[in-house]
Amino acid sequence: MKVDVLLGLQWGDEGKGKIVDVLTPKYDVISRFQGGPNAGHTLEFNGIKHVLHLIPSGIFHDTAKNIIGNGVVVDPAILMEEISVLDKMGVDVKSRLLLSKKAHLILPTHKLLDAAREEAKGKSKIGSTLKGIGPTYTDKIGRDGIRIGDIFCDNFSDKYQALKAKHIQLLNFYNFTKIEQLAELEDKWLNSIEKLKQFECVDSEYYINNKISENKKILAEGAQGSLLDVDFGSYPFVTSSNTICAGACTGLGIAPSKIGKVFGIFKAYCTRVGSGPFPTELLDEVGEKLRKNGNEFGSTTGRPRRCGWLDLPSLKYSIMINGVTDLIMTKADVLSDFANIPVCTSYKCNGIETNEIPFDIDCDITPVFTNLKGWNEDLTSVKDLSKLPAELMDYVKFIEEYVNVPVTIISVGPDRTQTLIRTEL
Ligand code: GDP
Ligand code: IMO
Ligand code: MG
Repeated sequence: MKVDVLLGLQWGDEGKGKIVDVLTPKYDVISRFQGGPNAGHTLEFNGIKHVLHLIPSGIFHDTAKNIIGNGVVVDPAILMEEISVLDKMGVDVKSRLLLSKKAHLILPTHKLLDAAREEAKGKSKIGSTLKGIGPTYTDKIGRDGIRIGDIFCDNFSDKYQALKAKHIQLLNFYNFTKIEQLAELEDKWLNSIEKLKQFECVDSEYYINNKISENKKILAEGAQGSLLDVDFGSYPFVTSSNTICAGACTGLGIAPSKIGKVFGIFKAYCTRVGSGPFPTELLDEVGEKLRKNGNEFGSTTGRPRRCGWLDLPSLKYSIMINGVTDLIMTKADVLSDFANIPVCTSYKCNGIETNEIPFDIDCDITPVFTNLKGWNEDLTSVKDLSKLPAELMDYVKFIEEYVNVPVTIISVGPDRTQTLIRTEL
């Protein structure tokens, strides 16, 4: 049995949480492989909306195990808050969740460092969610990090104090003044570490590979999006992990030959939170309308998302990097209100037309659009593929022909039930 991967092809918030929840009944294990509480994965059913940050989006089904893999960075305080909300709803998280001992811990001082580094960047700040992601991965790669497995060791406190001391020196270097928050953050954090000890912490690479041998079905759930990948995104305006399919191998301990389907998810248009290039961004009332119709406000920070038309050269790039086998298009319903829908098919970069994303993120990119006809029809209650408007199917066909990968799911609303599956998966 192989591991399927579902990941975002744009700048995040493509609807990963919703679709993972829809697909979970087909899987035995759902696992996160990178990122941390910078993610905000929303899913809706029975009229209730849930936002998950660290816990995989399969948690609402009692049929699947959910794993936080070694590639994830974990803030125990946020994890415990998330668990407590789920517990109150009657979700038995303890029996459904496993954590990798090799996942790195986000310390309170990592969060402060995130803020200090952003402040120091001034106008060129990344627009980080300030959850401590960058500083934690920096320590991981710099071989100074602390892992979940360390909390069970006698020298945990020494390790913690040593890393904290290094961070305080760095905070002083940045002249960071808001250090008084630390005592309160630390209290909560240490408390959460104690609670974390009651959860099942495992060598998840063995767990997952054993499941593969037992022919169990595994789905790896990406966080962020391919255009935020630390190698292939618009560096430096990226997150600090490999969000692409290869990240599932390093973030779970599975061999590349064990990857099965790669589900690439994209919105029918584009959004981005934080700074960085966005060629098709609409800074006018059309962008405002997309934001309003799509309720485009960050699930983690509440920030308004920047909005723009679908960008096919970047979609094709993400498909190439990830080896996407199946596309999933979400938020088709949000475009129902537009008579004409422009789609970017190439860029003019410093006056030269190209289909490729340029290395230089400061170069002057003008999108070249093809206008497609809108459908002007509410989609949110459509339950049958054959009832979808012809113009929408032309929109889908246009995308498929451009990127040469089929769209297998079309999502027409935030609820579980608002999902149309074209090909039996
Ligand atoms: P994720 O980070 O990829 O899981 O996506 P987010 O949860 O951050 O953002 C996606 C938002 O769109 C959430 O508010 C979802 O409830 C919502 N959503 C997902 N699919 C659809 C859809 O097809 N139509 C509409 N209108 N909303 C959707
Ligand atoms: P999900 O999983 C959208 C963005 C931030 C910022 C940049 C770096 O919900 O799709 P970081 O906190 O990692 O230092 O921020 O990446 N970002 C996201 N944007 N969705 C996310 O996650 C994101 N996680 C990080 O806005 O621009
Ligand atoms: Mg999100």
